[in-house]
Amino acid sequence: ASVAAVLPAGGSGERLGGATPKQFCALLGRPLISYTVRALERINWISDIVVAVSLENIETMKSIIEKYGHKRITVVEGGMTRHRSIFNGLKIFPESKLSSCPLQKPEVVIIHDAVRPFVEEDTLLKVVLAAKEHGAAGAIRPLVSTVVASSADGSLDHSLERSRYRASEMPQAFLFDIIYQAYHQCTDYDLDYGTECLHLALKYCKTNAKLIEGSPDLWKVTYKWDLYAAESVIKDTLS
Ligand code: C5P
Repeated sequence: ASVAAVLPAGGSGERLGGATPKQFCALLGRPLISYTVRALERINWISDIVVAVSLENIETMKSIIEKYGHKRITVVEGGMTRHRSIFNGLKIFPESKLSSCPLQKPEVVIIHDAVRPFVEEDTLLKVVLAAKEHGAAGAIRPLVSTVVASSADGSLDHSLERSRYRASEMPQAFLFDIIYQAYHQCTDYDLDYGTECLHLALKYCKTNAKLIEGSPDLWKVTYKWDLYAAESVIKDTLS
C-alpha cells in the first residue's frame, strides 16, 4: 500500500529567537530540515514527501532540495498555523486518478514535524501499521514535567498525576481518507487553535487512535540549546 509523508515546516520558530526559522538553521553546516527530509527519503516505502513552508521560504527550500539532492519532494505553501500548513500539504494529493497532478493519493499519510530530524524507520513503520489497523496512530513519550493548571490569578488550580499522562509527539500516521475528511470538516477555530491532528481525526471521524511509545530521539528542536544538542547527536550518529 502506498505511504506518503507531509512535513509541516511553515513556522517562524519564535521560541528559538533569531531571524532564521529553526527548520532552516544550520547544524554542522547543513539546514536542520535537510536532516529530517533525509531521514524520510532513505525509507523506500515512502513514496512522496510534501514539505509545507511559508511563502518567503519556498525558494530557500527549493535550493536546499537541489543542493542536497533530495528526491521525491514536493514543496507547497504553508499556512498561518501548523494545522493550515498540514492541510495545504494534504490538499496536494488529488482525489481523482484522472487529475494531472503527478502525486498519487496514498493509502496512509505520515505527518511529521520538520524539526524532529532523528526519527527512525522503526517508529515510522509502527505508526503506519497501527494507522492501517486503527485509522490513526501517533508516537507518545513519558512526561518529563508534571502538568499543572493555573487559575486566573496565576496560582495553582490543580496538578495532573504525571504517570497517567503522556506527551503526544510526532510522527503520526492516518488513513489518508480519514485525516483528509477531518481537515475538511473541522472549523476555522480548529485550524487556528486546535491542538493536534490525532485530536481532529478523533473529533470529526470518530476513528480509533493507537498510541505508540516513541524513543527520546523524537524530540522537537525548539530552543536554542536544542540546536547544540542536535549537532552533538549528528556528530555522534549520523555523520
Ligand atoms: O511551533 P511548533 O514547534 O509546534 O511547530 C512544529 C512544526 O510545525 C514545525 O516544523 C513548524 O515549522 C511547523 N509549522 C507550520 N506552519 C505554521 C507553524 C508551524 O508548518 N504556521
